[in-house]
Amino acid sequence: MTSVPPPAVESSSQAIIDLDREYVLQNYARYPLALVRGKGCYVYDPEGRRYLDFIAGIGVNAFGHAHPRIVQAIREQAGLLIHCSNLYHNHYQGPLAKRLAEISGLKRTFFANSGTEAMEGALKMARAHGHSIHPDKYEIVSLENSFHGRTLGALSVTGQPKYRSDFEPLLPGVKFVPLNDIAALEAAFSERTAGIVVEMIQGEGGIYPLTREFTAKARELADRYNALLIADEIQCGVGRPGTWFAYQRSQPAIQPDVVTAAKPLAAGLPLGVIIANEKAAAALQPGMHGSTFGGGPFACRVALEALDIMEELLPAIQRVGGYFHVVLNELARKHSFVKEVRGFGLMLGVELTVPGKQMVVDAMAEGLLINCTHDTVLRFLPPYIATEKEVDQAVKVIAKLFGKVK
Ligand SMILES: Cc1ncc(COP(=O)(O)O)c(C=O)c1O
Repeated sequence: MTSVPPPAVESSSQAIIDLDREYVLQNYARYPLALVRGKGCYVYDPEGRRYLDFIAGIGVNAFGHAHPRIVQAIREQAGLLIHCSNLYHNHYQGPLAKRLAEISGLKRTFFANSGTEAMEGALKMARAHGHSIHPDKYEIVSLENSFHGRTLGALSVTGQPKYRSDFEPLLPGVKFVPLNDIAALEAAFSERTAGIVVEMIQGEGGIYPLTREFTAKARELADRYNALLIADEIQCGVGRPGTWFAYQRSQPAIQPDVVTAAKPLAAGLPLGVIIANEKAAAALQPGMHGSTFGGGPFACRVALEALDIMEELLPAIQRVGGYFHVVLNELARKHSFVKEVRGFGLMLGVELTVPGKQMVVDAMAEGLLINCTHDTVLRFLPPYIATEKEVDQAVKVIAKLFGKVK
C-alpha cells in the first residue's frame, strides 16, 4: 500500500494562515483555507477535510492532483536534469515545440514560465514587428473587460481599470474596443497598429466568448494593416474548450499569428509559451528576448506527457463539459436570479443577478471549490479528468446554495 508522505512542515490550518498573515506579502485576498494534498479531483486540508476541486488552481491542474503519469514523469526527470539554462540545448524543447506546432498550426515556440511572461514576449513580438515596418507602428488593439496578466506590458493591454489604475501610466498606444463590436474594431485599426490581442473566451472578465464574425474581422484587419493577431489562450486554451485551442472551436479555424498559452500546459509546473508563425517569429531576432528558466527540461518533459494525456481526454472534455452546461442550464431555469450560463468545454460561467462571492465561501463549507469573477459570475474550471459523477456532485451543492437565495 502506498502511504502519503507527510508535508515538509506539519501545521494546522490556523497556524498556516497565521504565519502567512505575518510574513507573506498581503497582495491576495485568500480564502481561509489551507491545502496540503490532493488526489484526482479532490484536495484535502490539514485536518483531513475533502474538497471537490472545480477551480483546479485557476485552470492549471489539468489532470487533478497526483496523476500517476505526471508524478512518474516528474520523478524521472528530477533525477536526470532539472535545469540547464538556455545557454545549451536540452532533450525536450525541440519535441515539445514540434508537438505545439502540430496542434496549433504555428511553427515556432518561445518558452517562458507563466502566462503574463508569455504575454510580455508576444507584445514585444508585435512591437518589433511594427518597428521593422515603421517607428510609428506600435499601437496595440485590445478588448475591454479582458485580462492578460499582471506585469506592466500585460497590464497595459488588460481592459479592466481595477487592475490598471494604480500603475498608470502604462504602455502608450493601446486602444480598447468593446467585445464583439465590429464597428469599434474597424475604427481602432490604422497603419499604426502593430497587433491585436484577444482572448477567444474572456476568462477573468466573466466567461464571454468572441463571436466568429468578430474574430474573422480581427483577422481581416490584421491582414489589411499588416498587424499581428495574438490569441491569449492562457485560460481558454490547451484542451479546456474541448479542442486544443479555443480558436479551433469553430471550423475552419481562424488562425492567429501568435498564441500565448500557460496554465495547464505542464500540469501544475510553471511553463508559458508563445507559439508563432514564421512571420511573427521573425520579429524576434537573436538577443532580442530570453529567459533563464524558460523551457527547462523539467517543465518541458512534463508538458510533453501532459499533452499526451490531454489528447486522450479531449473527447471527454467535450462530453462532460456539454453535460455540465446542460445541467447548469436546467438549474438556471429554476432560479430567476440566474441570468445566463456561458462557456465551452470545461470553462463555464454562471452569471447571477445577485452577488456570488458569498456563494463561493458557502460552497467551500459544503466541500466544493469554485470561484467568482466580476462579482456575479460563478466560474467553473474543473480538471479534465472530471466525469459526470463529479459534475453531479458539484451541481448538487450549487442547487442547495441556490435554494437558499431569498
Ligand atoms: C487570459 C489570461 N491571460 C494571462 C493570464 C496571466 O497568467 P499568469 O497568472 O500565469 O501570469 C491569465 C491568468 O489568469 C489569464 O487568464
